[in-house]
Amino acid sequence: MVETKINWHSELDDPEAFRAFAHEAVDLAADYLAALSERPVYQRMSPEARMNLLEAPLPETGMPAGTLLDRFQTEVMPWPMGNGHPRFFGWVNSPPTAIGIVAELLAATMNPSCAGGDHAAIYLERATVRWLMELMGFPTEGSMGILVSGGSMASLTGLATARQWASTCDGWNVRDDGVGAGDRMTLYVSSETHTTVIKAAELLGIGNRQVRVVPAGADFRMDISALEAAVTADRNAGYRPFAVVGSAGTVSTGAIDPLDDIADLCAEHRLWFHVDAAYGGPGVLDTRVAPHFSGMERADSLAIDPHKWLSVPVECGCVFVRDGTLLRETFSLVPPYVQVDEGKGIGGLPWYAEYGFQQSRGFRALKTWMSLAHAGREGLSQTIRRHNELAQYLAERIDDHPN
Ligand SMILES: Cc1ncc(COP(=O)(O)O)c(C=O)c1O
Repeated sequence: MVETKINWHSELDDPEAFRAFAHEAVDLAADYLAALSERPVYQRMSPEARMNLLEAPLPETGMPAGTLLDRFQTEVMPWPMGNGHPRFFGWVNSPPTAIGIVAELLAATMNPSCAGGDHAAIYLERATVRWLMELMGFPTEGSMGILVSGGSMASLTGLATARQWASTCDGWNVRDDGVGAGDRMTLYVSSETHTTVIKAAELLGIGNRQVRVVPAGADFRMDISALEAAVTADRNAGYRPFAVVGSAGTVSTGAIDPLDDIADLCAEHRLWFHVDAAYGGPGVLDTRVAPHFSGMERADSLAIDPHKWLSVPVECGCVFVRDGTLLRETFSLVPPYVQVDEGKGIGGLPWYAEYGFQQSRGFRALKTWMSLAHAGREGLSQTIRRHNELAQYLAERIDDHPN
């Protein structure tokens, strides 16, 4: 038999011991989920419990797996963030799908790096991203998407592609010469845009002073005439407007920007249209509100977070780019040992490492693929519809309330 052990001795190297231990862990998870709704949504950690975790020394000699499971049960599990609880309304963080929990275990069992290569995880990611595109109504022909850590990374990736595109439109290459080589780029967001977009602009060398915060109206949606005025003023001042970010569900109020109008304006002014649909995008699956999302499908790039409204366990974000070749132009810099030439070597698709910043990448696709397939389009749509009904009910109760 081929030795598969890692170097130090673990009692879990024995397959039967692993099985028993994993069963115990699954029992713990099942009991936790079953009792969750009886618990308080959240409780502050006691100072002792905090210190206990913070100050624990690294053990000199290994601790038995069972002891670690006990410690997890007594020192970690009692202190959740709260987002698995049915009455958690704190943030947009969702509970995990049950199948996604198990998928995490299975993905780690295979433990592929999804940088690229010719193995199942790569094809599963392609299919999963295509499903996400189909759900969002985004074109699948000629486009490309990649799973990332979350909405922050998805918008960073989309806007990096926008910056690359703008430089090549102007006859230079930001990858070669850096942002200082061209006219100063300006990015347009609304006062309701998520701060992670501003962080992305800072990281891309745009600078937050070059991010124009367009006012939102009383409905919290971007004011299109203010956007147009800002773009024109910047052009006249010698700046290079390059991209507009529309939100399909702002984090504070769920407002959806006038995406069709923004897409028209971007087409007219030759600007990149990025949509931050990180949390709200799946709302399009509710036919009653879908018209509000009109124009989302016209985005040049789009950020969507399966780990939010689709309940895939954290982390899983995704970016779509309409022109897939642009995404590759933005990120492809692979060492010779991973270059794939068509018809040569072991074959397969171009490496994901050519479409994003990461080289080694986790198997995020499995939990996403399983969660989507298990619900099906119908299950997902039903869930979103139900959530919207609950939100509507809450809004009515608030409106009814005298204070
Ligand atoms: C609209 C919106 N965009 C972006 C983000 C950031 O996403 P992430 O936390 O997955 O990086 C969030 C998170 O709440 C969000 O609601």
